[in-house]
Amino acid sequence: MADTAPASSSTLTITQPDDWHLHFRDGDMLAMTVPATARVFKRAIVMPNLAPPVTTVAQAEAYRQRILAHVPEGMDFEPLMALYLTQDTSVQDVREAAQNPNIIGYKLYPAGATTNSSAGVRAVDAMGPVLETMQEFGVPLLVHGEVTEPEIDIFDREKVFIDRYLAPITQRYSRLKVILEHITTKDAVEFVTEAHELVAATLTPQHLLMNRNDLLVGGVHVHNYCLPVLKRRTHQEALQQAAISGNKKFFLGTDSAPHVQAKKETACGCAGCFSAFTAIELYAEAFAQLDALDKLEGFASHFGADFYGRPRNTKKIQLQRDIWQAPATVTHNGETWVPYWAGRDLQWQVVMAGA
Ligand code: NCD
Ligand code: ZN
Repeated sequence: MADTAPASSSTLTITQPDDWHLHFRDGDMLAMTVPATARVFKRAIVMPNLAPPVTTVAQAEAYRQRILAHVPEGMDFEPLMALYLTQDTSVQDVREAAQNPNIIGYKLYPAGATTNSSAGVRAVDAMGPVLETMQEFGVPLLVHGEVTEPEIDIFDREKVFIDRYLAPITQRYSRLKVILEHITTKDAVEFVTEAHELVAATLTPQHLLMNRNDLLVGGVHVHNYCLPVLKRRTHQEALQQAAISGNKKFFLGTDSAPHVQAKKETACGCAGCFSAFTAIELYAEAFAQLDALDKLEGFASHFGADFYGRPRNTKKIQLQRDIWQAPATVTHNGETWVPYWAGRDLQWQVVMAGA
């Protein structure tokens, strides 16, 4: 596959991208979150960590309809639903999920790892029959890869999860598609690179653009707080190299995760960066900083579709080099959100989407 070079130094045309990991939330918020993503992306994998979580095909179908009701007129957007894996998910549940083309896979949250994960898996080792069935029926496993044991340092939780759980799972189930979501460490890059060909990873804009200094130097920067937490610069650099490597195992997943301003700017702020309003532009920013804009299309628009066995999009989007600012705040129904990168300059702007 030939890399697409920028048409000129001031415009960049790429195949319409997909977002392989995000959070839309539910209810009134869909009127804000769905158009923000459908603005640019053709498809998105919608995470199931609602309260209560989306555990059944029927719940996912109903949620999907609520999402579709908020796709603006004339926009062509396809939500792909992830089901929430619990300790009680049965082999029969997996068989049912496998029959439904709108279900993309199961999401494994270790219980307590992140927002709305209390119903998650408490004993990964006991999930054998379910994983076996997922492998047999070709249902991918999407993983929040962090252990939750209190004695494990938060900066080590991804690596320990890989060593303790993910390495054994990928060895035992060599035909199971596994996606390690929002990776944050050099260890994860190396693990995914060396694992069998059905193991892949998503990368967020914040983990490409920032490291833990951006969270903690000069004060606590709550809007840069997400899970897995930002790591040290050497890890950021490994993620950047993976993103621009052209290795098809690494692709776009924003993990856009809105929490209202009052729940971020408080003594115990929620984890999640709300990046949907500037998502592809943030990736363009990261790739431009690395002088690798020619690698953006594969990462954003080809590799995820190829991995999930879905057709590549046929429409194009065009970005233009033009300094602009991410919104400082977004208001909807009387509530306020502070998006990720709020008020900061971006070098690239979408000027044409989905044509
Ligand atoms: C996500 C959320 O808010 O739902 N938060 C986050 O920090 N990434 C959950 C998740 O993906 O871990
Ligand atoms: Zn997420």
